[in-house]
Amino acid sequence: MLKILFGWVVGALLLLQFIQIDIPVPSTPIDKNNEVKVSDEIMGMLKTSCYDCHSYETKIPWYGHVFPFSMEVKSHIKKGREWLNFQEWDKYSDEKKQKIYKGIVQTIDHKMPLPMYLEMHEDAQLTQIQRDEIKNWAQSNIK
Ligand code: HEC
Repeated sequence: MLKILFGWVVGALLLLQFIQIDIPVPSTPIDKNNEVKVSDEIMGMLKTSCYDCHSYETKIPWYGHVFPFSMEVKSHIKKGREWLNFQEWDKYSDEKKQKIYKGIVQTIDHKMPLPMYLEMHEDAQLTQIQRDEIKNWAQSNIK
């Protein structure tokens, strides 16, 4: 009985692998002019540690194709982009930008990048010095 049940579970999981995540990217070319303007140094950090979830330049990791992890990955990218897309920056109102700067100051020390993501992305890890640099940049823009 248990064997049959196990078989069904494995079968169901295999079938579920056919559900692929669909992470939309705009069909029109991304307008580089809208991208956030920061020093090359800050940009480098944002690209390696934030862009997977906060831009259209998302690199889907291998587990992003494995159900059920794919659902989690998709949700992070969707929510992350909704909150903040560094490539849509110039379209944001001053109010929204202020909210983001404050959000960065509040989250950069522990919450962002998502700890779960860092476990799988050694290279996205930021040193405390780098976190401070991002924080200082955000702080200096808060009015
Ligand atoms: C693995 C995906 C992922 C990465 C990488 C990531 N974020 Fe996020 N970020 C999210 C998600 C998802 C949210 C939505 C917050 C929530 O639902 O808790 C978010 C929210 C935020 C917010 C708003 C949070 C608040 O509560 O005010 C800021 C600011 C932010 N991220 C900055 C960053 C910065 C800066 C980096 C890079 C250093 C980064 N994130 C990297 C997924 C990510």
